[in-house]
Amino acid sequence: MTTLPETELSRALRREVARRRTFAIISHPDAGKTTLTEKLLLFGGAIQMAGEVKARKAARHATSDWMAVERERGISVTSSVMKFEHAGHEINLLDTPGHQDFSEDTYRVLTAVDSALMVIDSVKGVENQTKKLMDVCRLRDTPIMTFINKLDRDGREPFDLLDDIEKSLGIEAAPLTWPIGSGKGFQGVYDLRRNELRFFSAQGAKGVRPKDSVLVKGLDDPKLDELIGSGPASDLRRDVELLAGAGYPFDVKRYLSGEQTPVFFGSAINNFGVQELLDTFAQLAPAPKPRPTTTREVAPTEEQFSGVIFKIQANMDPAHRDRIAFMRICSGRFQRGMRVRHHRIGKEVQIANAIIFMAQDRAGVEEAWPGDIIGIHNHGTIKIGDTFTDKEPLKFTGIPNFAPEHFRRVRLANPLKSKQLEKGLLQLAEEGAVQVFRPMDNNDYILGAVGLLQFDVIVARLRDEYSADALYESAPIEAARWIDCPDRQRLDAFTKDVRANLALDAEDNLTYLAPNAWRLGRTMELWPEIEFRTTREHQ
Ligand code: G4P
Repeated sequence: MTTLPETELSRALRREVARRRTFAIISHPDAGKTTLTEKLLLFGGAIQMAGEVKARKAARHATSDWMAVERERGISVTSSVMKFEHAGHEINLLDTPGHQDFSEDTYRVLTAVDSALMVIDSVKGVENQTKKLMDVCRLRDTPIMTFINKLDRDGREPFDLLDDIEKSLGIEAAPLTWPIGSGKGFQGVYDLRRNELRFFSAQGAKGVRPKDSVLVKGLDDPKLDELIGSGPASDLRRDVELLAGAGYPFDVKRYLSGEQTPVFFGSAINNFGVQELLDTFAQLAPAPKPRPTTTREVAPTEEQFSGVIFKIQANMDPAHRDRIAFMRICSGRFQRGMRVRHHRIGKEVQIANAIIFMAQDRAGVEEAWPGDIIGIHNHGTIKIGDTFTDKEPLKFTGIPNFAPEHFRRVRLANPLKSKQLEKGLLQLAEEGAVQVFRPMDNNDYILGAVGLLQFDVIVARLRDEYSADALYESAPIEAARWIDCPDRQRLDAFTKDVRANLALDAEDNLTYLAPNAWRLGRTMELWPEIEFRTTREHQ
């Protein structure tokens, strides 16, 4: 292990932090996340051929039995973090599991990134899952760049889409490009900042347009009419005028504070708009920021090494039964073989064989910097939210549990295995694979998950790893909220009053399990001094 003199290390830190971009893509299924991911990797030179990410997704969707779950986890780890370089920037793209594998991890990944890219289908507009993911981004005012996809289809009017983003997501939408036509009449986009026309040509179609982009001298340039026709040119002029009057001008500060999203229009499958998106993203998206701990904020450029665990993935190699803990480096330089302190358990550990995730493979890591994600082998001692540093004891916050949205009661096929069940459930809860609640009034185990596939995974893992055959029964619960109240007397009165709906989670936190949304709302009204939290920090 080489040790750099202090000044050299801090210089290196400044340089490496400034060029890192760690982000995730948020979207509703089918909006085009996989296609855009693939195109970003292709343009970033991380893969040679389109189709590789797609093939993984197809394999994930093949079947839904346990073998597929197992296989999918093997697959999803390589695509969990995709690292590539673009224009001098080191880009870490973190996968947000979607579709059936949508889970609490999807939310938690968003707490480990510095910004997000939102993909919206131009035909459908803002959809449900995007709203949920946006709510998570809002917890940390994460900056969001938007790509409105599928402009080659007859989609909604661009003004209507911007309005939808503003109303449904509560964020200003500031277009950086503007579409010319849509569907069959889609000609391309006008770059509002550069006064440039970019022509669309469908993938594979040859000779549709002589040039990819043409610079015009503003919107009054007669060349515009020649190039796109006078009808579309006057539509474009009218739209841009309307935008100047009623739209939001792009403001980088508002983007960085999460109040405004710059918007690009394009078609990922046709490679259209992807290059501008990637170039602008690399240029404007934020580098790693300071992160809060229970005691102070830690700047990424601090020389002290620190990192936090935001995800644990089990059984990635079924032959080895290994678990990998994903650590986001928050400050300092990581070097292979370095000794760090695992603060929750007060032990010093050597991280000898960390892995870094490349677009397709895992590779041994020699050195990593703030914003990078490394995987470390975990034999069951690491929990989500755990902090590692090489000096000062710290505990990062901001990587919470999220209120589950689906619930099941667990029953054992063989009651003699209750010890195994309990051990399995507690360990799986620590890993963040599921949440476990024990009602105050009975001996049930209630499982809570953000995505339904989590339940299948848990039953299979209980059987394979803990020899406990569990069955599920439906549970009459629709929402969970963690309870907080500084006033001890009110808390006691509340506990007495709604005891039948209260439970303790795996870390003994009081939780209200609501039978339906109406009851939750009513209880919140009746008990205004009680806080009903949708997230809970790890201890
Ligand atoms: P997801 O990861 O967000 O779920 O979306 P994905 O990229 O898989 O895209 C969903 C569907 O939308 C795919 O079609 C994909 O080809 C299509 N798509 C993506 N970008 C565009 C675009 O710019 N224009 C149009 N017209 N379609 C686009 P599919 O039929 O479900 O899959 P496939 O058979 O094409 O692979």
